[in-house]
Amino acid sequence: MIGIIGAMEEEVSQLIEAMENKEKVTCAGMDFYSGTLKGKDAVVVQSGIGKVNMALCTQILADKFDVEAVINTGVAGGLYKDIEIGDIVISKDAVQHDVDATVFGYKVGEIPRMDTSYFEADKDLIELAKKTCEEVNPDINCYVGRVVSGDQFISDNDKKHYLINEFDGYCAEMEGAAMAQAAHLNQIPFIVLRAISDKADQEAAGSYEEFEKAAIKHIVRLVLGILDRM
Ligand code: ADE
Repeated sequence: MIGIIGAMEEEVSQLIEAMENKEKVTCAGMDFYSGTLKGKDAVVVQSGIGKVNMALCTQILADKFDVEAVINTGVAGGLYKDIEIGDIVISKDAVQHDVDATVFGYKVGEIPRMDTSYFEADKDLIELAKKTCEEVNPDINCYVGRVVSGDQFISDNDKKHYLINEFDGYCAEMEGAAMAQAAHLNQIPFIVLRAISDKADQEAAGSYEEFEKAAIKHIVRLVLGILDRM
């Protein structure tokens, strides 16, 4: 069983529509749709926005659905210099940029007393996602890079450049690293897949509203393509 999580309704609705033999179970206020997607056993769920929702959702997938891998799909703000709206970032790894225990000598992003704070995505899933993206989205660029997550919508050039300089982030969003941490703790392979809806700068809010739908088309195509090739 593959777990697929999107934070928002518009990030999961097309996947839920495409499912066959659907069954719904509600837990912690989240609707988990299990069935088959492109012939694979899958469970698709809308977690809600932010790291806490995502961590909870991932734990439920581990405990109740015994998932063998988790995929986080959705949109993100672009950080990497050449990245364009509509392009895709596949997570190399994911980190929480809003963790700050620097007063105790930790680096920003470092979670005190954990073995790692940069959670590495599954290498086979990265390869599969890259190959699939080139086939199903030939007109856009697809990057493998770091996903930086925090409970903040980034819409400021200074903050954007801080995330690039401090973390080498390729895209900023609000959930991926929380799923990554929960997956790491449960020893479940994961990948974060994000299409760029805005450039995390002063124009981000307007751009997000305008381009979100088009970005989601690319990421839905990628998720379905991956399941088709598994
Ligand atoms: N999701 C989409 N764009 C984002 C941004 N700029 N910051 C955080 N999350 C996002």
